Amino acid sequence: MNTTVVAIDGPAGSGKSSVSKAAAAKLGFAYLDTGAAYRALAWFCLERGIDTVGADGITDALSEFDFSIGTDPDAYFVRVGGDDVTGDIREPRVTKIVSSVARVPEVRSYLVALFRKIMAGVPNGGIIVEGRDITTVVAPDARVRILLTATEEARMGRRSAELTGVDASTTARELSSRDAQDSRVVDFMNAADGVTTIDSTDLDFEQTVQAVVGLVHSAV
Ligand code: C5P
Repeated sequence: MNTTVVAIDGPAGSGKSSVSKAAAAKLGFAYLDTGAAYRALAWFCLERGIDTVGADGITDALSEFDFSIGTDPDAYFVRVGGDDVTGDIREPRVTKIVSSVARVPEVRSYLVALFRKIMAGVPNGGIIVEGRDITTVVAPDARVRILLTATEEARMGRRSAELTGVDASTTARELSSRDAQDSRVVDFMNAADGVTTIDSTDLDFEQTVQAVVGLVHSAV
């Protein structure tokens, strides 16, 4: 495969999605937001009234989960069945339950296989794939592997600025409880062997994008 794979992991609020999308656009690479797939399945379970406390209903829902995602960083979309759910999957009701959906082993193996299929379908050039387990599980052999972090304070500050009408302490509580839940399934707080850490605490958005682009240029 001639495709350059860039794997980026990091906690909630680290800016991975926007940084990865902007870096992909700069590099002329495709972009895969894996968190969007977990969110889309969580949204689908809510729409269908499926109980997300237990795993059985979620696992059964996989056979009817008709998911597609855009990998062009300039034409990003998320669809389930015929519905464009690009905006809906960011709703707080989805964020609240997504970790329960993502911890189900059948969900993880189904989506990991799907991500690998999407990566293999990128014709040439490269793809940036971002999430929580990309450097370790989805693409451990990626040419470039990055852990994008920032202090908890910086991450909460950025997330509160994004969400209007939500107070900072609620955001902080939700972010750290989601990270705590997700960390029980995969470790994205510590860089695995061979993974480069980019700490964006003191970097602005453009500097962070440049740090990613610079690492890719030095590796290919
Ligand atoms: O990145 P984002 O916050 O959109 O991810 C939503 C959720 O999807 C995470 O909180 C986590 O539960 C799950 N996720 C995952 N593995 C990934 C990406 C996301 O478990 N590779």
